[in-house]
Amino acid sequence: MTEPLHPIEWTGSAIRVIDQTLLPGRLARIRLETVDDLVDAVVRLAVRGAPQLGAVGALGVGLAMAQGQREGWSAGRLDAEVARIRAARPTAVNLAWGVDRVRPLMGRGVDAVVADALEIIAEDERNNHEIGRRGADWIAARVAGRVRVLTHCNTGALATTEWGTALGIVRELHARGALEVVYADETRPLLQGARLTAWELVQDGIPHFVQADGAAASTILRGLVDVAIIGADRIAANGDTANKIGSVGIALACREAGIPLIVAAPESTVDGATPSGDAIRIEMRGDEEVLNWGGVRTAPEGSRAHNPAFDVTPARLVSAIVTERRVVEPALGQVPGSPTGGA
Ligand code: MRU
Repeated sequence: MTEPLHPIEWTGSAIRVIDQTLLPGRLARIRLETVDDLVDAVVRLAVRGAPQLGAVGALGVGLAMAQGQREGWSAGRLDAEVARIRAARPTAVNLAWGVDRVRPLMGRGVDAVVADALEIIAEDERNNHEIGRRGADWIAARVAGRVRVLTHCNTGALATTEWGTALGIVRELHARGALEVVYADETRPLLQGARLTAWELVQDGIPHFVQADGAAASTILRGLVDVAIIGADRIAANGDTANKIGSVGIALACREAGIPLIVAAPESTVDGATPSGDAIRIEMRGDEEVLNWGGVRTAPEGSRAHNPAFDVTPARLVSAIVTERRVVEPALGQVPGSPTGGA
C-alpha cells in the first residue's frame, strides 16, 4: 500500500483538503479559510464523499467560529453560517451528522470543537479498516477463490479520511491476496470512478478495468463479477440506501444474476430518523454537468438535462450493509434501524 493520503488537515486556522476536481492530473491541496471557501468546495465537489463531508462539516464549525471571532460576528450570524455548512449538500446525512456532533461543544471554544472534529477523522480511519475486515470476511464466507468486484463512484481515501468504505473492502481483499480484479464504473457525469477510484487503484497497484456505466449490467449478467460493493450517502431505517446515481441499476442486475450487492458505510451514514428511501432528499445538480463533456457542449442547444446526483436502492436488493459494528442483511428481512451508539 502507498503512503496515507491524509485528505483533510487542520492547519490551526484553516482546513487543507485535496481538490478532487483536479485529479487524476494533479494532486494539489487547497486551503479553506472561510465558510464561503468551504461551502464552495463542497458544492463543486472539491471535497466529497459522505464520510469526508462529515469530517469537513465538523471542522467547518470550528472554521466558522474562528472566522466569527476575526470578523466580530453576532451569535445569530454564527448560527446562520453553521446552518449554511450543514445544508451545503442535502443527500449525504454525514454532513449534518458531523456538524450536529460538534455543535454542543461550541460554548467551549474553537479548540474543543476542532479537537472533536479531529477525533471524527481518527475514528473514521479506524472504522474503515473495521468495515474492510468485516466486508472481506462476509465475502470470503460466500465466494470461493479470488474475488472479482464491481464498484461504483469513489468510496476510497478520497471519499473518507483514509482507506475507504467499499474501497476499503477492496483494499482488504487485495491485502489478503483474495482479489482478482475490480471493474470500476466511470460514474457519469463527474467521473468519480474513472478519475478518483482508478487513481487510488493505480496508486495501490490493484488490477482493474474502468468501464462505462452502461457496461455495468452486462458485466454482471455475463458472470464477470462475483460481488458488487458500493458506498452510501444515507441509509434509511428500513435499509433503503441512497448512493451515487447508477447504483440501483447495479442492484437490479445483481439480483437478476444472483450475486450479492454489499453496501459499505459507517454507522454515521445510518439515518434512523428517516424511515424509508421515499423520505430521502435527492440532490439535483446543474444541467451543464450532463449536457457538456470536457467543457464542450455535446447535447444540442434546446435540450435540458435530468441530473439527479443520487438514487435509492430498495432494501430488498441489498444483500448486506457492512458497518464498523455489524453486518445487516436487508434482503433477508433484517433492518438497520438506528445507528449503534458509543465508541
Ligand atoms: O457526489 P459524491 O461524489 O459526493 O457522491 C459520493 C458517493 O455517492 C459515494 O458512493 C458515497 O458518498 C459513499 S463514499 C464512502
